[in-house]
Amino acid sequence: MLSERTIQIVKSTAPVLQTYGKDITARFYETLFRDHPALLNIFNQTNQKAGRQPTALANTVYAAALHIDQLETLLPVVKQIGHKHRSIGVKAEHYPIVGEYLLRAIKDVLKDDATEDILQAWEEAYGVIASIFIQVEQDMYEEAQNQTGGWEGYRDFYVDKVVRETPEVTSFYVKPSDHQPLATFLPGQYVSVKLSVPHETYTHIRQYSLSDAPGKDYYRITVKRETGIEEGIVSTYLHDQVKEGDILPLSAPAGDFVYEANPEKPVVFISSGIGITPVVSMLKHLVHEHPSQKLTHIHAVRNSEHYALKREMNDLGQSVRLYVAYSQPTVSDYEQNDFQLEGRMNEDVLNQWIEDKDATYYVCGSESFMKSILSSLKALGVKEESVHYEFFGPKMSTV
Ligand code: HEM
Repeated sequence: MLSERTIQIVKSTAPVLQTYGKDITARFYETLFRDHPALLNIFNQTNQKAGRQPTALANTVYAAALHIDQLETLLPVVKQIGHKHRSIGVKAEHYPIVGEYLLRAIKDVLKDDATEDILQAWEEAYGVIASIFIQVEQDMYEEAQNQTGGWEGYRDFYVDKVVRETPEVTSFYVKPSDHQPLATFLPGQYVSVKLSVPHETYTHIRQYSLSDAPGKDYYRITVKRETGIEEGIVSTYLHDQVKEGDILPLSAPAGDFVYEANPEKPVVFISSGIGITPVVSMLKHLVHEHPSQKLTHIHAVRNSEHYALKREMNDLGQSVRLYVAYSQPTVSDYEQNDFQLEGRMNEDVLNQWIEDKDATYYVCGSESFMKSILSSLKALGVKEESVHYEFFGPKMSTV
């Protein structure tokens, strides 16, 4: 239990943390990796370079400071982060190290403003926050391990089949190398893949959504080759080097961007580009399990050549109302006339396409796409609690 005084200090210093949050977390990561380089094996260096991970951590610490006297309200966020931590392999013993470097970073950035009182209050508060994370994650580790076909840590899978979906997207069908049962998963969940890429000093871990319905004897991930700031060390390696028979170490499925069963309510999925992968899993599952449910899928993509898993979507037939927006349709797209909009979706378009606004929404795509869709849905009067979203990066960096 934190004392009244500690709570008061932490809450009153929260605005300072918001102002200096990014500096503090940037300093934190710099010193943490300098002194504990082995942690570079688990952190995604691309997220670091893009500043997303420091932002996500800063936002979470700020939110925790504001709610320090009612931390239970943060539980959904803790669970979402906990899924990611569990999937990667963050352990209880890592927390004191992170706490130590976070505190030092606060001291380094705030200098004389970080008095002994403030530092002590934050140390106590971090201890409380960390123990909540540790407990949530401990439960997740047990659940992942104890379910039929489940496992702890990373398990070797062999690549059974590689399918090129589009010029930039490839699917990998993988099966456990030990030929033992395979845990089921909730449609929408992801797995972490841990790779030792030649000439790279550290291992690289990435999360990929499981892109097929559950209940098969394989998992499928569908990977886009990343370019630009993303650099795509892992996706390039998967695309160029990984072939049938190769081994990929995977952690057990995780994530809370999952279909929450409510057969009474219509469901609207809105995706862009590679954001279609968890949607395919959810839609295939739903069409099979709840065939009478009203389902709409709205997808934005460059054109049919880049539309990954298009055939599988079309195979769902009449069960799903499908709307497609191409930003750069090809000549053959015009001839086929299988898209509804040329250009970007906006509020008016969504208003026309979504028949029943009182639906449950699942949105998945790039950060900019998701921000624009979330604000359009808000403008259309959709309640925040009806919208679930996932973008492929640290979620709290968008808050
Ligand atoms: C991811 C917060 C402790 C390692 C994250 C994310 C947040 C976060 C907000 C982004 C989640 C997402 O992707 O949506 C925190 C907080 C902590 C904490 C508030 C302490 C109370 C730790 C510890 C470790 C760790 C102890 C292990 C050394 C990671 C890693 C990721 C992550 C590896 C994935 C991010 C990436 O690779 O880009 N954490 N974390 N975290 N965290 Fe933590």
